[in-house]
Amino acid sequence: MDYSILEPLIRESRNQCNEGKVASYIPELSKVSGDLLGITVHEVGKDPVTAGECMPKFTLQSISKVFALLLALIDRGEQQVFEKVGMEPTGDMYNSLMKLEIVTPGKPFNPMINAGAITVTSFIEGDNVNERFERILSFIQKLSGDDSIYYNEKVYHSENHTAHRNRALAHLLKDNGILEGDVEEHLEVYFKQCAIETSCTNLARMGMILANGGKDPETSEQLIPKRYVQIAKTFMITCGMYNASGEFAIEAGIPAKSGVSGGILAVAPNMGIGVIGPALDRKGNSIAGIRLLTRLSEEWDLTIF
Ligand code: DON
Repeated sequence: MDYSILEPLIRESRNQCNEGKVASYIPELSKVSGDLLGITVHEVGKDPVTAGECMPKFTLQSISKVFALLLALIDRGEQQVFEKVGMEPTGDMYNSLMKLEIVTPGKPFNPMINAGAITVTSFIEGDNVNERFERILSFIQKLSGDDSIYYNEKVYHSENHTAHRNRALAHLLKDNGILEGDVEEHLEVYFKQCAIETSCTNLARMGMILANGGKDPETSEQLIPKRYVQIAKTFMITCGMYNASGEFAIEAGIPAKSGVSGGILAVAPNMGIGVIGPALDRKGNSIAGIRLLTRLSEEWDLTIF
């Protein structure tokens, strides 16, 4: 791959930043600059390459949904997970309540929207809240090869104090018979997993493991069953960018998952990509990050279609 195109593509894509806005519904997220744009590319068997201004750390937010899903599948298997969460895109915003109310049997359409992710998180095994969160954390540490990864307490509290919509979703799920157990405990694990802090390099390495079918190329250890990686990547392409997933699949053609902190995890053939660009479009995806991945896909012919 010709890495010399990364810096020019970043300069070009950065122009989009002023058309977006940094997320503010989680107050703590609004403190970062919207002008940043950075990328790390990690090809299987090679060293990662970084360009632009990767913020040292940012919270995973919805990117964590991919890893919670993988761990829930490992813990419970497909049948149990998909009994409560569907496999279809919604065309709605990521935090929409609408379909839970109007489509019988009131089960979330997929694991990438908030309702689906809260349900998936409720499947993570552990004796108590701390143990369940620690299991997600150590899964992410293992995939990224970085055991210094932890969660940002300020971001966690900031979301927990303001999460009226997620609480509404979770209580609706409980009433619909989808969520079992204590709603607040599930939300605590979910908000903490969203507040886990990673770098572009961490994201790119996790993406590289997914690109490699769940196997760590350095140790040859199969960290995730191949079938579950296939499921996660399929959800990323169909639902990972929410109601912009179709357009992103046409333009960039690679599985990706965004988060409201402006991070994007992308999985191209034989490589993982981590992007950070905190200015978001109206659908909650990094505006310059989407542009950068689209241009990179054109230049390197990454589309899987
Ligand atoms: O639950 C929330 O609203 C956030 N913790 C995560 C949402 C998110 O990242 C949506 N992505 N673009």
